[in-house]
Amino acid sequence: VCETVEALRHPTFDVWQWEPNEMLSCLEHMYNDLDLVKGFNMNPITLKRWLLCIHDNYQVNPFHNFRHCFCVTQMMYSMICLCSLQEIFTQVDILILMTAAVCHDLQHPGYNNTYQINARTELAVRYNDISPLENHHCAVAFQIFSQPDCNIFSTFDPEAFKQIRQGINTLILATDMARHGEILDSFKHKVDSFDFSDEEHVTCLKMVLIKCCDISNEVRPMEVAEPWVDCLLEEYFMQSDREKAESLPVAPFMDREKVTKPTAQIGFIKFVLIPMFETVMKLFPQIEEVMIQPLRESRDRYEELKQIDDAMNEVRHICLCLIVFFEDTSASCYV
Ligand SMILES: *[C@@H]1O[C@H](CO)[C@@H](O)[C@H](O)[C@H]1NC(C)=O
Ligand SMILES: [Zn+2]
Repeated sequence: VCETVEALRHPTFDVWQWEPNEMLSCLEHMYNDLDLVKGFNMNPITLKRWLLCIHDNYQVNPFHNFRHCFCVTQMMYSMICLCSLQEIFTQVDILILMTAAVCHDLQHPGYNNTYQINARTELAVRYNDISPLENHHCAVAFQIFSQPDCNIFSTFDPEAFKQIRQGINTLILATDMARHGEILDSFKHKVDSFDFSDEEHVTCLKMVLIKCCDISNEVRPMEVAEPWVDCLLEEYFMQSDREKAESLPVAPFMDREKVTKPTAQIGFIKFVLIPMFETVMKLFPQIEEVMIQPLRESRDRYEELKQIDDAMNEVRHICLCLIVFFEDTSASCYV
């Protein structure tokens, strides 16, 4: 148990070897270890009931499931430890970061915002095409907190509750990848003269932190990270198959005829992950060795795999040409 508790603080943690009940205990441990339970006078039983309710409100999708929720929260916990965030953030900010991570994909249906909007689903209609999924995750989170037996914030006064609600909603809404460029640009403008006493700066940093954790699988060791790519592709294929069946637009990177694991990952690591983590590195240089180095190694490995894939396709192409050539020759022999 002690070894697990220490391992839980690092991005190298093996997220695959645990049952839901064990992941729930780990989440409970993180809240205790960060002193959120005693510090905010939370009822430990309410914390348990709340986490169980969270688990029940994640669907069994290939990717956007309870284990993904666990991964994102465990990465947040790792970053809080690695970057000593408790020394620079208030405990309310730590509570907001952790709780937003836990809640950030509640009741995700496995089909993305673009699908929701193009298929004119109930969610898209309800939220007027504006981040329908993320709005839904927020709403579900606060429906859960509205049940007294799951309300871990019952000890907060109304003003503090408002602040926490606002903070969590801002972070969950920031996980919409359609806003990636906007949010990263805003952070880049602040980072060189970052002011930890400026509320706007701190909010922007928290938004970038949850974004980092949300898409951090490739920071993990190869054996832990790679199965997640299969899960993501499985969910993409589910969506693109449905889009084809419903005559909706299909993205090439989701099409089972066009995408492979290396092609899916190389661009994402090079143009989304590394630039974002390198910007965060300006504030927290300690993430270079622990988080950015694994990203570079993963990029290099997928580039090698892609070269092998390309070479195999070249061989396959030559073989087909030879078959056609000899079939034609033998045909002409008979004539
Ligand atoms: C969502 O799916 C659409 C295809 O319907 C695709 O074009 C879009 O890039 C996807 N968005 C994300 C964030 O993966
Ligand atoms: Zn997510």
